[in-house]
Amino acid sequence: MFRLGLVLSLLVCCVSCKKENQVEEQTKPIQTENTFKLYEMSEMAVLMEQMYVDNQRIRQRILEGVTIDDAMPSLHQRLFTAVMTDPSDKDLFFETQAQAFIQVEEAFYANPKEQTKEKFNAIVEACLSCHQKKCGGPIPRIKKLWIP
Ligand code: HEC
Repeated sequence: MFRLGLVLSLLVCCVSCKKENQVEEQTKPIQTENTFKLYEMSEMAVLMEQMYVDNQRIRQRILEGVTIDDAMPSLHQRLFTAVMTDPSDKDLFFETQAQAFIQVEEAFYANPKEQTKEKFNAIVEACLSCHQKKCGGPIPRIKKLWIP
């Protein structure tokens, strides 16, 4: 029973995008047997999780004062093409935010001598500024990347 609870809370974490936008979905009782089949991560969701991990790593290295001289992960460019759970989310707002995000990230990687926490926080802000409107669920998680 404990394990099931753990699995469920992980699942709720994964479908967290829907938390804010589709409240009525949430109030429905969760059918445990079907949940796995019902939810498959989209290409965009997988990419997002990867971006999260990549930035967690960068954050750690900044805190340790290590210079990051590797190239920006080319995977992040898939932001423009990855298929989303809800294709109608790919609108002008998304495109604009995606462009802005990639620019901020490129700026960070472009100059390893100037990898300040401010420049890293600008990446986190760019994540948040799209999420503010597009996918509210992960915001508390993304905020944890912020370096005070
Ligand atoms: C241009 C808009 C945009 C930007 C920028 C953006 N996101 Fe997202 N994010 C989305 C959308 C849309 C989804 C929902 C994807 C889906 O369900 O197909 C999402 C989903 C997520 C998820 C949940 C994935 C899951 O498990 O379902 C996480 C975590 C996440 N983003 C983290 C980040 C982080 C960290 C950054 C910055 C490094 C970032 N996002 C930048 C739009 C954006």
